Amino acid sequence: MDDKKLIGELNKILTLEHGHLGMYKNYLEYEDQEIRRTFRRFMEIEEEHIGKINTVIRNLGGKPSLTVDGGDIIGKLFGITLNTVADINGQLKVYSFIEKKSHEGYAKFVSQLEQDTQERNQFIAEIAAANMLEAQLMHLWLDNRRRS
Ligand SMILES: [Fe+2]
Repeated sequence: MDDKKLIGELNKILTLEHGHLGMYKNYLEYEDQEIRRTFRRFMEIEEEHIGKINTVIRNLGGKPSLTVDGGDIIGKLFGITLNTVADINGQLKVYSFIEKKSHEGYAKFVSQLEQDTQERNQFIAEIAAANMLEAQLMHLWLDNRRRS
């Protein structure tokens, strides 16, 4: 993968990560304390994801930029308007789906990087793999909570 393509892929991932941050940043609005605490931590994890991707892009000499204009990124990408998800269970289902998609997207990206023999790309794969794992963990929590 050449640098231009790699930076482009990373900016797509960055855009999705900003969307994820948008899902959890209103954590204070939930009545349920466990949801508030969990979403607060998920928000922090998403901030960490954004921070790591930003750093990788800058270290490659690129400029972090969103591929979709701000606002409701998830809505634009998935055709879902989060504000109209009235019931918490419906919302958990949507979020669980989005984190599953995130995990799948990262898995694909990681395996592409792993096929590359360039040592630098192996290093980036390890960073992406950490985000991939956390997306999986969030997906599992959301899915479990929605079924309980
Ligand atoms: Fe994320």
